[in-house]
Amino acid sequence: MSRARIAPSVLACDLTRVADEVRSVQDAGADLLHFDVMDGAFVPNLTFGPGLCAAVRRVSTLPLDVHLMVADADSLLEPFVAAGASRLCVHVEAAPHLHRTFARIRELGASPGVALNPLTPVESIAEAWPFVDFVLVMTVNPGFGGQRFIPEAGDKLGRLAALRDSRQRRVELAVDGGVDTGNAAMLRGRGADVLVAGTAIFGVPDRHRAIAALRGEEV
Ligand code: DX5
Ligand code: ZN
Repeated sequence: MSRARIAPSVLACDLTRVADEVRSVQDAGADLLHFDVMDGAFVPNLTFGPGLCAAVRRVSTLPLDVHLMVADADSLLEPFVAAGASRLCVHVEAAPHLHRTFARIRELGASPGVALNPLTPVESIAEAWPFVDFVLVMTVNPGFGGQRFIPEAGDKLGRLAALRDSRQRRVELAVDGGVDTGNAAMLRGRGADVLVAGTAIFGVPDRHRAIAALRGEEV
């Protein structure tokens, strides 16, 4: 099993101190910074736009991983890449022209990913496999941080790992929603390459310990 990469979700940080918060997780060994972009249409919540990414870009060297929970992803691709995003993930349930969207993300120089809601079947992204660099498995209903992990959605990970291992092209598997020290080992065991976590990292004072615990490392 390779070492899982950890992506703290900025949604859960103290937004009054975002620069300090981001530095704290970077210093604690985070691999990526995850941004939850919500439009109040695809999901019942509103968060932030490219402005926050551009600001964080100035205080961190970590890759910015942008999770678009929006009805119209295409119009946001360019602004987010211009703001420093290196990974852009769109929902299979929201994007009607996925092939074009992935091609556009690559053309802009970023890495494309596809996200699946908890009850969206694995088969819905089989054809997307050659065009993406990562799959984001949602283990909560997108829209809010701090929700309870849905075990049945996590079960999908094993099937995705089998699909990954049967294909020549390596696609990374990421898990997002309710990830904590109680389920991280199980998720890593099922083949997760990236663990996205908000509350489990920003909700505790010792970020180094929190990140190491998610990776299954001793501190
Ligand atoms: C939910 C978001 C998640 C969320 C994770 O819509 O995609 O990234 O912020 O937060 P926790 O780890 O608190 O569930
Ligand atoms: Zn997310």
